[in-house]
Order: sequence, then structure tokens, then C-alpha cells
Amino acid sequence: MNSSAKNKTPRRTVLVTGCTGGIGRAVAVTFAQNGWNVVGHDCISGDKARQLKACITAHGVDFSLIKADFSSKRQVNRFIAQAAELRIDSLINNAGGYLAAKHFTELQLEDLSAALMVNLSTPILLSGCVFDGMKRRKFGRIVNISSIAAKYGGSGSSVHYGCAKRGLEALTKTLAREGAPHNILVNTVRPGVIDTDFHRKFPKDMKKRVAMIPLKKMGTPQDVADAVFYLASDVNGFVTSEIITIAGGE
Ligand SMILES: NC(=O)c1ccc[n+]([C@@H]2O[C@H](COP(=O)([O-])OP(=O)(O)OC[C@H]3O[C@@H](n4cnc5c(N)ncnc54)[C@H](OP(=O)(O)O)[C@@H]3O)[C@@H](O)[C@H]2O)c1
Repeated sequence: MNSSAKNKTPRRTVLVTGCTGGIGRAVAVTFAQNGWNVVGHDCISGDKARQLKACITAHGVDFSLIKADFSSKRQVNRFIAQAAELRIDSLINNAGGYLAAKHFTELQLEDLSAALMVNLSTPILLSGCVFDGMKRRKFGRIVNISSIAAKYGGSGSSVHYGCAKRGLEALTKTLAREGAPHNILVNTVRPGVIDTDFHRKFPKDMKKRVAMIPLKKMGTPQDVADAVFYLASDVNGFVTSEIITIAGGE
């Protein structure tokens, strides 16, 4: 082996859950543009995944995809076992959503379990699964995608979602403390209203909602992706345990 090959450090790898959604896609592409290999995860979206693969590999980096429905115990366990085999330098716990928009007076245990599994339990398990490898390599970055709902509480119909996201923020605090001695930096990004399919799944009066935002517009997925890349790459050497709100002043 010649010395240049010997000294070549491997590309860094990011794992982005929910990588075919609006924010996840922008995050995955931003890492690829900066020379990172991407391991993506999605739940169902086949065509979107194929398009994303083409877009990412065009940057000369590797892309692989793991599919899993995070509301299924069996699929989560399989996903965690697969992730444990990988070298992950940065983890973006991005997959999430309401799953059901139900008033809290009508929530059933099944609704709650599913929302907590997708938005909280899987990120906890996944963080635990990549943590030891990050420790060994003395480098790790984790960003948990929360929501403005964790700041103000959500509506009466999204309490299951808001509570799960608040739990994710508690996870950030613990992991940041545990990770600090090992150069593992862990932060929360709290998006406000971002223009993605998220809002089309449970339509509401968006005009009214946008009027409440001081900047009077929705954010773009790239607004979130730029902050996530900063926090979850080598660029960040000193920010940990923080909550960065990207919400047009809300
Ligand atoms: N958009 C906003 O205004 C906003 C505001 C605050 C917080 N957020 C948070 O930002 C993150 C990304 O949201 P987004 O706006 O990009 O929404 P999105 O376009 O709806 O994407 C959501 C992603 O989560 C995945 N997902 C949903 N249910 C899942 C399940 N049961 N198992 C596994 N994966 C699942 C989806 O996978 P499939 O597409 O394969 O189903 C998709 O990739 C979420 O955590 C969301 O809570 C968004």
C-alpha cells in the first residue's frame, strides 16, 4: 500500500432517518454535497428514494437505504440491528410526524404508542446503538429534529406529538452530557412551520398559521438542513446540548 492510500481518512458517514421527506431529503443532499456518504432511512416512499439516490450519488459519494416503519416493533428491532453494523459518524433523528391527528380526549393507547415509538423510542434506541462506535472513534454528532410544538405545546389534536418531541429534547440533554468527554456533540433543532408534505398530510388553514409567524412566511427545508449540517459536521467543534429554533421568529 502506498503512503497516500495508507493516510487516506475514510469519508464520514451520516445516517438520516426519514430521508425522503422534505427536511430529511434536504439534509441528506447537503451532506452529500459536502462529501459525506449517506445512509438513509425511509418508511414507504419508493420513487422518492430512487430519485434521492441519483441525486446523492451524483456527488460521488455512497448512498444506501434501510426501510423500516418505526411504529412496528419488529421492524424497529431489525433496523437497529442493521444500523449497529455500520460506521456512523453523524446521526440525524429526523423521521417523525403526528401519525394521527386526534383530540387528546379521543386518543387511544395505540395512537400514543405509535407516536412515541416513531418520534421518541426509535431515536433513543438508535442513538444508543451508534454511541459506542462514536466513542471508540472519538467523534460523533447527533441532531434530534424536534418541533416548535415542544416549545409552546401543540394543539389539542397534537399533544401526543408535542410530548414525544419534548422527550426527544430531554434525550439531547442526556446524550450531550454523556458524549462530551468523547467529542460526541448532541443538539436539538426545532423547526417551526416548514414547507413540506408534513402539512399536506393533515391540512389546516395555512394562511392563518403563517400570519402568526413574525417573518410572515414558511421556512424551507434548506433553512433547516443548513443548521443541521453545521451542528452535525466537523464544522461544529463547540456547540452541544443546545436547542436551535428555526421558526421565523416564533
Ligand atoms: N414541516 C414542518 O413544518 C415541521 C415542523 C416541526 C417539526 N418537523 C419535524 O421535522 C421532521 C421531518 O418532517 P418533514 O417536514 O420533512 O415531514 P415529511 O415530509 O412528512 O417527512 C417525514 C419523514 O418521516 C418519515 N416517517 C413518517 N412516519 C414514519 C414511520 N411510521 N416510520 C418511519 N418513518 C416515518 C417519513 O417516511 P415516508 O415518507 O417513507 O413515510 C418521512 O421520510 C419530523 O420529525 C417532523 O416532526 C417538521
